[in-house]
Amino acid sequence: MEYRALGQSDIQVTPVIFGAWAIGEWMWGPQDHNDAIDAIHTALDAGINAIDTAAVYGFGRSEELIAEALQGRKREDVVLLTKFGLRWDHGKKGTVRFETKDMDGNVISIYTYSHPDSVIEECERSLKRLKTDYIDVYQIHRPDETTPVEETFGAVAKLIEQGKVRAAGVSNYTPERMTRANAVTPLASSQPPYSMVLRDAEEDVLPWCRENNVGVIVYSPLQRGLLTGKIKPGHVFAEGDHRASNKFFAPKNVETVNALLDRIRPIAEAHDATLAQLVIAWTIRQPGVTAALVGARNTKQAAENAAATRLTLTDDDIAQIDQHLADVTIQR
Ligand SMILES: NC(=O)c1ccc[n+]([C@@H]2O[C@H](COP(=O)([O-])OP(=O)(O)OC[C@H]3O[C@@H](n4cnc5c(N)ncnc54)[C@H](OP(=O)(O)O)[C@@H]3O)[C@@H](O)[C@H]2O)c1
Repeated sequence: MEYRALGQSDIQVTPVIFGAWAIGEWMWGPQDHNDAIDAIHTALDAGINAIDTAAVYGFGRSEELIAEALQGRKREDVVLLTKFGLRWDHGKKGTVRFETKDMDGNVISIYTYSHPDSVIEECERSLKRLKTDYIDVYQIHRPDETTPVEETFGAVAKLIEQGKVRAAGVSNYTPERMTRANAVTPLASSQPPYSMVLRDAEEDVLPWCRENNVGVIVYSPLQRGLLTGKIKPGHVFAEGDHRASNKFFAPKNVETVNALLDRIRPIAEAHDATLAQLVIAWTIRQPGVTAALVGARNTKQAAENAAATRLTLTDDDIAQIDQHLADVTIQR
């Protein structure tokens, strides 16, 4: 398995990182507990060495599932990336980002809040849930308009000094904010949304990270399952699955994406690969992309996504795919 360095840090990750949002159930509809644990085992056994989660995923549940799955494994064999700064459990501090339902179905507000005291408190809670004494990469989940970037990353720097965190990371951050954070403590990675049909990061995050030697770990590379080809117009999602109202899953966009997938399917078939594998392989070949965070909810998906690291696309494959992508317009 190939390993890639996260920026200037001494942390190496596989080009596919297990994304643990959906297994936490929140915003994705029902998730079988054993499927979640088995999915993590499958990914690790297939050679994937890193898992991305966040405190807010399932309000701690995702982190707890990871701890359960890692029992009996050597801690140093796995790179754990988690996030802070989306708070549901800290009163009304910060800015309301959105309303959602908690695991009992109650409507609650999620706040962006990354005051130093909050960062330190969240870190302690994540360490407890993950049943570990250090987090490899600690990432701000979303910008907090109420706390200066320098103060937030001063707290992360303190956690690094204390050995509770190995490296700092950001997510959904602009170059301007990354410059400020990076001046306080070197960033190992930046986490933007990026997929074949959502390439905004090529304009800002990717060039900034290349210039500043910061790793890029892209999220939702399968566009939340849409790029696997399994979603047809009129698809009925389970209750609680956010995709039912996500713009990418509007019928017109589903049709557009499926037409694209029909055009690139022969390339997947020529490699004896699935569409999901082709999409992942294309993503991790993009200049400046260090790794793709790919969600999986069961062993089948985890095995398929991990195996995408073994798919080597030719320059001609990439050129053909890019040509097809040039014709695609998603309504946003
Ligand atoms: N920083 C942020 O703000 C942020 C935001 C989003 C995500 N992330 C991170 O990025 C990770 C990945 O993103 P994501 O989960 O949003 O989207 P994704 O990786 O594009 O899609 C994952 C979903 O697609 C389906 N899927 C996965 N592999 C499949 C396969 N081989 N065949 C068919 N279906 C498959 C599964 O859902 P179904 O089986 O239900 O279809 C799975 O939950 C997350 O887990 C999280 O760690 C971060």
